This record gives sequence, C-alpha cells and structure tokens, in this order.
Amino acid sequence: MPHARRPAPLHEHGDFSDRRDLDVTAPPTLVPAQAQSSVMAHPDRSLWCLSTPATCMILGADEAGALTQRYWGPALPATDMAQFGDVDRLRWTSTFQSPGEIEEQLPFDGGHRWGVPSLQVVFDGGVRALELAFAGADTVEYEDGHGLLVRLVDEGFGFGAALHYRVRHGTDVIERWVELRNGHSKDVRVLRADSGSWLMPDQDEYRISSVHGHWSGETQLERRTLPTGEYTLTSRHGTTGQQSNPWVMVDDGTATEEFGTVRTVALAWSGSWRLTAQRRPDGAASVTAGFGHDGLEWSLHPGDALTTPSSLGLHSEGGFGAASRSWHDYVRRHVLTHPQEDRPVLFNSWEATEFDISLEGQIALARKAADLGVELFVVDDGWFGSRTHDAAGLGDWFPNPDRFPEGLHPLVDTVRTLGMGFGIWVEPEMVNPDSDLYRANPDWVLHWPGRRRDELRNQLVLNFGRTDVRQWALRSLDDLAGAYSLDFLKWDMNRPFTQAGWPDRADNHDMVWIEHTRGVYSVMDELRRRHPGLRIEACSSGGGRVDLAIMSRTDQVWTSDNTDSLDRQTIQHGYSQLYPAVTMGAWVTEEVNALTGRRVPLDYRFHVAMAGALGIGGDLDLWSADELDRSREHIARYKAIRSTVQHGDLYRLGQAPGRDYSALEYVADRQVVLLSYDPHRSLSRAPRRLRLRGLDPAARYRDTETGTEYSGAVLMGRGLLFNEHQTLRGWNNTRFSAADYASSLLVLERLAG
Ligand code: DGJ
Repeated sequence: MPHARRPAPLHEHGDFSDRRDLDVTAPPTLVPAQAQSSVMAHPDRSLWCLSTPATCMILGADEAGALTQRYWGPALPATDMAQFGDVDRLRWTSTFQSPGEIEEQLPFDGGHRWGVPSLQVVFDGGVRALELAFAGADTVEYEDGHGLLVRLVDEGFGFGAALHYRVRHGTDVIERWVELRNGHSKDVRVLRADSGSWLMPDQDEYRISSVHGHWSGETQLERRTLPTGEYTLTSRHGTTGQQSNPWVMVDDGTATEEFGTVRTVALAWSGSWRLTAQRRPDGAASVTAGFGHDGLEWSLHPGDALTTPSSLGLHSEGGFGAASRSWHDYVRRHVLTHPQEDRPVLFNSWEATEFDISLEGQIALARKAADLGVELFVVDDGWFGSRTHDAAGLGDWFPNPDRFPEGLHPLVDTVRTLGMGFGIWVEPEMVNPDSDLYRANPDWVLHWPGRRRDELRNQLVLNFGRTDVRQWALRSLDDLAGAYSLDFLKWDMNRPFTQAGWPDRADNHDMVWIEHTRGVYSVMDELRRRHPGLRIEACSSGGGRVDLAIMSRTDQVWTSDNTDSLDRQTIQHGYSQLYPAVTMGAWVTEEVNALTGRRVPLDYRFHVAMAGALGIGGDLDLWSADELDRSREHIARYKAIRSTVQHGDLYRLGQAPGRDYSALEYVADRQVVLLSYDPHRSLSRAPRRLRLRGLDPAARYRDTETGTEYSGAVLMGRGLLFNEHQTLRGWNNTRFSAADYASSLLVLERLAG
C-alpha cells in the first residue's frame, strides 16, 4: 500500500547513525500510477528539468557547448530550476584535468578530456578529435510520458549525436539513449557508443553494489568501495552473461536495506556490454554504460545511423529495499507486456528426464503433475530432430520421428485434456554440426573463413544478424507455435560467441555483436505478434540472459540451473535487487539436489521456490505418496498467495539469505505474505522477532491460519516471532525454531475498515 507519508519503520538492528535516526519519514516506495512526470525547459538559460514523481534531473548547456548534469536528486519546485544556470567550478582544475568533463552527458574522445569516453569515433584519415557541441533541444511528447531530445553536432565532420531522454508517468526511472548519425561523405569508425554517462553527485564516499556469478551461481550480490580509477563490468560473451549483470547501485557507504540514498544505473541490452564506474582522484564519480565490449568497432557509412539501447537511471531514497521496489514497479509497469497475469505453476521435464524423453514417460509425468495442481506442462530439451544427446539435432525443429511418430499431438492432447497448458524448449540460435540444418547451411554460423569453428557443448552459434537466418528461425517457431497452439516457449541460449565473424559483412563484421541481439529481439517480437497467447521464458544456461531488454519481450526467466534451495536463496536475493518476483522462475526439485548433493526438506524447497514463479522440476515418478500429497498442499497454498508474491511490494527482512535467518515479505492491498527461512539454527540468536514493513499502522491484519489479529503498528513495531508457526518449546519453556531448514509461510489478511 503506498502512503504519501508514513512513520518510519522501527529499526531492527540498532546500527543506525544519528542522521538516520532523525529520518522520521520514509518515502513512498511505490509511485502512484497517476503521478505525473514532466519535462520543462527554461527558455533563457539553456536548462531543462526532467521531473519524475519524486525526483528530478536538471541538465544545462554551457557556453562551451557541453551538455552537463547540474542536479539529480529529490524533486524540486519548478521555480528552483533557474538556480542551476551557473556551472559549479568547485572542482580542482589544472592543465591536467578538466573539471566539468565528468558532468557531461556524453563525454567524448576529443578536446581536453582524459576520462572514460562514452563516445569514441575515428573519422576519415584517422582523425579522432571529436568536436561535438550543443546545437539545440526539443521537448517531446510520448504516449505515457514526456521526453527531451538534445542535439550535439560536430560541424567539421557533419556528425551528430542526438541524446534522448524519457520520463514516464508513475516512475522515478529516467530512460536515455543516443542516436548517432554520420552526415559525412566518408565512413566513421565507432569504437565506443554508450547510451550516456550519469554523474554521481558529490559525496564523501562511493560504494558500488552489483551482482556477479557464473553458471549455476548467478547474481551474487557484492558491495564494495568504488576504487579510484575505472571499474568496469562487462560481458564479451555475446549475451548479457552470468559473470555480471548490467546494473550498479551507488551509495555513500551508509545506505542499508531501509535507509539512505541510492542511485542505480542499468542497461537494457542482451548482448555484449560494458559499464564503467569512474572515480576520479578529485572525488568525482560517474557511470557510463553501453552495448558492445572493448575492441569492437562499427562503421557508420555515409548517411547511416546507430541507435544505442536504453540506459536507465533511478535516484531513490529509502535504502536498497526502496530502490528495488521502484525497479520492480518500473519493470511491471513499463517493461513487461503481461505484467498483470499470474504466472502459472509449471512442470518442466529437464531435471526429471534430461534427454531421455518418450511419449509414455512424458504422459506419465503430465498425469502426476496435473494431479498436483500444475497448470503448464513444459517438455524441455530432447523432443526434436535427432536430439537424443547433446551432440546432435539442434537446428532441426521438428518432433523426433522415433520418439513422437505422430508428432507431439498425442502428448499435447493429453496435457490439454488434463487441464494444463503446453510448452516446449527451444534453442533457436544454436546448431549442432550433426544436424540437417548445418549440413545444408554451414555458412549460417558465426565464423571467420580459414579459422577454426570452436564448439562448446557440441554446438555453434547461428548468426541472427543474417536476414535468412532470422526468416528461417521465425518460420520454424511460427510453425511449431501454430501446429500445437503453444502456450509457452522456453527460449534457451547455451553458449557464448567465439570466432564471431560475419564474412558477408567484411566491411562491418563487428556489427554481428549488435545485429545478432537485434535479430533475436525481432524474431521474438514477430512471433509474439503472430501468437498473442504465447508466453516466453528467457533462459541462457540458467540466468545468462537476464536484463531489462529481454524482459520486455519475455514473461519470465529461468533464474539459474542451480535449484539447491540454499544456493538459490543467495541467487534469488541478488536477482531481486532489480528484477521482480513475477519474472523469477523457481522450481522445486529432488530432495538430494542433483547438482550439489545437498539434502533439503520438501517444505523448505517449496518455500524458497514460492518466492518467485513456482515450478516443479523433479522426477515425480520417484516422489513418495506423502511427498506428492504435501506438494499438492503447497501448490494450492501458493495459488492463494501468488498474486501477492508476483505483483506485491517486496520487503527483504533479516540477515543473509541462505546462510542466516531471513524472510521475504510481500505486501498487496488485502494480503501480506511472509516467507521465513532459518537454514541453521543458532542458539545465540533464537528466537527472533521479525518486524514487518510497509503496512498501514492503523489497519488490522488477521493470521489466516490461527485467526490471531494484529494491528499494523504492532506488526511493524513489535513484530512476529520468527517462524511463528514452527517454533518448538525446549527447557524452561524456551521457544526456538526447528534446528536445520526451518521455514514457514504465513499469510495475513488485511481486514476491511
Ligand atoms: C540449459 C537450461 O538452463 C536447462 O534448464 C535446460 O533447459 C538445458 N539447457 C537443456 O539443454
């Protein structure tokens, strides 16, 4: 429930500073949809103010023609804009450093600039000295907000950079992108084309938060002091990648989950990328982000334009928790195409059968899944071509004739008769050399003539920059979606680029790093246009292609191949920093995890997976009658809370998820859901009270299991006993939670009145 002003939640850990103690109001975490954004221009002073409901950014063009950021912070009265006409000259200046460079919106390689360039080009004759200068600006109207377009022009080479800004209603996120245009008669080589630079307003310290990982260990949250120098996160994989995710949050080192100013910069792009946070020795800091990694080079032929993906910035008060809630709200409101839909409980065959797919086996699983209350049955890898193992068949998108002699119809019909939707796994960007497709089209893959074609997982990457490849992929998927009225596609991508040549485009081969991604987008977009009922899950060996751009054309992602509940808690914690639960695919798999060997009880596994879009990924044939009964109960309970989990406000409570006690609280209008976890009980801290957040202090809430009623003020002030329903009584009547893997689901109903 958003409240314009509400009392600060009571502090839990007592480690707050005086400043925070005095912070008696917490900002609203969700901006009402009707809250307007605006763009205002100051006619005389070359100033523009991009206002969001709670923040604003002021830009100005100076006498030298540079466009600089003058302010980014809490909303200001419009009349204050005029006070930003003068450029601060407080920074130390010398012949060796230009003070204002870091404030520029698109610092470029040219003139007296020595910092990280957001734009770097080479003109005819090897000339690198860009001379971009302000050439005009216009406000722009969008259907759902307002925008600003600022033109920078290098007159000598007829080269232009149009800087676009958009503020949409009901969000504090500011969107930016750049359009480069070559108006010269000769090619321009582009070495770096970021979507823009964001100045981090001066503060005593800069701390940077980001997520990193690897296969089966994605989105591990890291917070570190931003070192002086240049700190770059990047993917050279051709996809978003598992090593880093394209966003950072910056605070002054004192922000907590509940308090403090946090600024985020994210990039909406699913190919290779680079984000550099720069901290100058004079204490100034900025973040620039864009597509492509270092060393790539794109040619702009005369008349050509290059449009960058969007970079997004958020200024937020209220700590990391409020920043995450603002991002979640933005994703639901402006990124996802079906945000309001509850994600179905799905069954996925991968961990159950891997490549050992048969009609009978899948039907048997489908019957068990339907009996549990599963709503969507997804056949993973192994149903097509000669794909009985991972060395053959990729690219041949027709049902394996031995396994499915009558096509998938008998399976699809059974699944539908059982009342479930039907989906399949595909990996359209890939081909096994042992496939009909590769034998017919060996040139369709990324390659350099005369160089090796290195395989990974026995597969090569199809060049989705090519029109014929895009057409083939669209046709193949369109046929499948049409033939089986598919409800769901799991779109996988299991290897990074190597030898990424595009021989037909020898004049501009590195364009493949952009055009492949654009090709994936265009096939997805057209497929969805033709099949409005189709829902897509993005997967790349788990969470290797998770970003805001892929989310605008898919409905959920496969978060990680690691389904071990403890590992998943840290992965899901990192994931939740930016992305909402509605997009986070989470399965319950075997008691002894196939990847880690860890034995985790069924309840705990369910409670961890219920924190996102729940799925079942275990081999139901091996589950006991008791396990199946308990699973049926869990699925029914999940269905009763999933709207709140998927669409509500998330509050992260407690300590390090997966390592210490923690809880996830989801708040919707009429319901509050609390998932609590304590993987290993510690005598030194049990029992705990969890103070809830985001409630209406004056409202009453009823525990739907026990009927106990509480006021919002008590729930937030005193809190609930940790794992309320699971506590045991020991010596001297001490209450404590069960030893290992204690977890619980508690549901509160907000009472009317
Ligand atoms: C990688 C995915 O992450 C898995 O879930 C599964 O779909 C396999 N690919 C299938 O090859």
